[in-house]
Amino acid sequence: MPTVQVALGDRSYPVIVENGLLSAVAEMLKQQGLSHLRPAIISDETVAAHHAQTVISSFTENPPTLHTIPAGEGSKSLSHAEVLCREMIRAGHDRRSIIIALGGGVVGDLAGFVASIFYRGIPFVQIPTTIVSQVDSSVGGKTGVNVAEGKNLLGAFHQPKLVIVDPETLKTLPAREFHEGFAEAIKHAAIRDAAMLEDLLAIDPEKREVPAELLARNIAIKARVVEADEYETKDIRALLNFGHTIGHGIEASLPYGEMLHGEAIALGIRAALVISEKHSGLSTEASQKILGLLKHFHLPLKLSPDIPTATVMEKLTRDKKFKSGKIRFVTLSEIGKAQVIETVTASDLEAAIDNLRG
Ligand SMILES: NC(=O)c1ccc[n+]([C@@H]2O[C@H](COP(=O)([O-])OP(=O)(O)OC[C@H]3O[C@@H](n4cnc5c(N)ncnc54)[C@H](O)[C@@H]3O)[C@@H](O)[C@H]2O)c1
Ligand SMILES: [Zn+2]
Repeated sequence: MPTVQVALGDRSYPVIVENGLLSAVAEMLKQQGLSHLRPAIISDETVAAHHAQTVISSFTENPPTLHTIPAGEGSKSLSHAEVLCREMIRAGHDRRSIIIALGGGVVGDLAGFVASIFYRGIPFVQIPTTIVSQVDSSVGGKTGVNVAEGKNLLGAFHQPKLVIVDPETLKTLPAREFHEGFAEAIKHAAIRDAAMLEDLLAIDPEKREVPAELLARNIAIKARVVEADEYETKDIRALLNFGHTIGHGIEASLPYGEMLHGEAIALGIRAALVISEKHSGLSTEASQKILGLLKHFHLPLKLSPDIPTATVMEKLTRDKKFKSGKIRFVTLSEIGKAQVIETVTASDLEAAIDNLRG
């Protein structure tokens, strides 16, 4: 079965990808030497309804407790983290427990954060169930919650002990959530793996079938970046922000939930391609290829005229600071080759955002 090893010294762990793994969770914990710990599953109500029983049934002894939160970004909060911690304490969990995060990125980020603070830190396992979480958020150890002032502003680096990816869990994912996840996979191809564009194009966007090998290839891209820059102190992990500067600005300009993260990132990628052509010599053919792939997954490429450029600029400058009129920005010089450059100006960003209406 495809396995990606994330090599981080004593924080190393495997990411195992295969159809049907959900019914082998207990066995996999045993193989990793984690079966002496008392398991607590954290999930959201939607995912739990579809998949929790399969995971629970894989345990013949030491049955896990189940703790759920309402589905959606609103649950990624400090108050939900507290509720989960208190529930776990009342259920008898302590430092000899292990958390199993079963769900998308919201569950993974929140459960990972709970694991990082519960009894000052206990181990956790990720079982991602969306494309976003399978190719991106379950690997890398960034955990956290949102506050009213901004997303992901509180958190900790806390690496999982094991990541179990079962592509069959995607079968129950709604169409929109399925499609948006491919924005991150397209981002991976754009920054690191030009050949993967063809494999992504071969996926039927109307089906919920993603080859384990393709997921593993994405995970390996993320893993190599994380290994090179675990705490994002160099410019390497920043490459994963390709499409995210303007994408985040657009996402923050809309009421929550109107546009999914991946949809905003598709627009951010289109804007970043324009800037890459101007500043890093990316060819128009290369841009067209990436845009074609975003379209293949029904991702939006046009910004509504109701969202003014000034609003997007205001939102994006909240987390990105200009230094003497310039911003650090991830561009492509060719597909598969990305870099952080420091020559992009506010008017470049404005022009790229304006261009999204054309
Ligand atoms: N830690 C990181 O490095 C990192 C990276 C990228 C994104 N994120 C975070 O991830 C979050 C987004 O993750 P997401 O897109 O997975 O969203 P999500 O966890 O909210 O899942 C999206 C929706 O799909 C439902 N769902 C999930 N799996 C399902 C399944 N198999 N069948 C049916 N329904 C299912 C959920 O209940 C939810 O309603 C954001 O909070 C973002 O900040 C973190
Ligand atoms: Zn993203």
